[in-house]
Amino acid sequence: MKNRLQLVLILAILSFAVSREASAQPDGFNYDESKVPQYRLPDPLKGVKTSADWKKRRQEILSLFQQQMFGMAPEFDASKLRVSASAAEHLVLDGKAKMTQPVLHLPGADVQLLVFVPAKSKGPVPTFLGCNFGGNHTVLADSRIVLPEGWVRGGKDNRSDDSQRGKSSSRWAVEKIIDRGYGLITVYYGHIDPDFDDGFRNGVYSHFGQPKPNEWGSIAAWAWGLSRVLDYLEATPTTGIDPKRVAVMGHSRLGKTSLWAGASDERFAMVISNDSGCGGAALSRRAFGETVKRINTSFPHWFCGNFKRYNGKESELPFDQHMLISLMAPRPVYVASAEGDRWADPHGEFLSAKGADPVYRLLGTEGLPAKTMPAVNEPVQGQIGYHMRSGKHDVTDFDWGQYLNFADRHLRKK
Ligand code: GCU
Repeated sequence: MKNRLQLVLILAILSFAVSREASAQPDGFNYDESKVPQYRLPDPLKGVKTSADWKKRRQEILSLFQQQMFGMAPEFDASKLRVSASAAEHLVLDGKAKMTQPVLHLPGADVQLLVFVPAKSKGPVPTFLGCNFGGNHTVLADSRIVLPEGWVRGGKDNRSDDSQRGKSSSRWAVEKIIDRGYGLITVYYGHIDPDFDDGFRNGVYSHFGQPKPNEWGSIAAWAWGLSRVLDYLEATPTTGIDPKRVAVMGHSRLGKTSLWAGASDERFAMVISNDSGCGGAALSRRAFGETVKRINTSFPHWFCGNFKRYNGKESELPFDQHMLISLMAPRPVYVASAEGDRWADPHGEFLSAKGADPVYRLLGTEGLPAKTMPAVNEPVQGQIGYHMRSGKHDVTDFDWGQYLNFADRHLRKK
């Protein structure tokens, strides 16, 4: 009897797990490799023979992405950035890290940073920078981290509270990062623009107003916010962080954001996309899992108005996402997928990284040293890095382990 009960319980847990996994893979979309439409990718190196040619071509590609997908962001005069210094500096992780929380006063949005720097570091450190989904207080369970005001994802009545402290800590390997000698800065993306379709009235839009069809959607707004963090680091020599060695990192919609931040702001020294999928690293033309039409329908505020022209018409896009990756060249870029994350099309993410390889090679780097998709949990790291981890849509210690190795390779002073 006891055994039967145990079996029933195990089956119930398993079916719950499977249905959760399935809910991340909505029905009615293609998950069959043999049904991927025939497609031809535009050539990032069209008309390019030399690195000087690439400079021009890069500008052309960047402007296509600005006009047709992410939207143009407003210019910002960094000398006008207003900052409130952190009220306090705390020691965390048994004294291994210093934690501060300065606030950037951006037009229409006060953005609180959560900054960790190794306590014992001698000179300015290389640093990871990324947005978080739930508020800075979800990154580490520490009562001194300020609760975000305003709308938060998932909270009771969309408000933050103490019960949420540390709930995303498995996604932020803070201790590992510090132990390896890196800093970490994270910001709550909802402080820049709350992530729901409100007709562009809140966040930075409350200042800049309604975007035109070729002007910034929310992803470009979040990326723009990350560039303002760089402005702050450049203007503030006392942070202990080296602004020339910042790796911008993000997961899922925030991985789309880190890619756009890296493409639109060449000051980012390294770019990491974790499970970014459609509108991020995955090739749109494959229409595997999430499609352009679906993303524009479920999240009408993420991209610019013009991007909706391509709903169901991926083949008419003047670019594909391998060209977004190529905009990072020759800077190191890492694309990571998860095997269970078919909605994000792991194979399409790999092909995109691979599609940027010719640009990296033209610029004299080794590109992505893999002919075909590597086996699960076997990372490949050149100037482009790629892995497909086992498991679901998430950020794990395995992912961070690879990003740290990649950063050791590229951001350490030789
Ligand atoms: C949805 C969306 C994806 C996105 C993901 C996330 O699944 O369809 O495009 O990447 O949310 O950000 O968690």
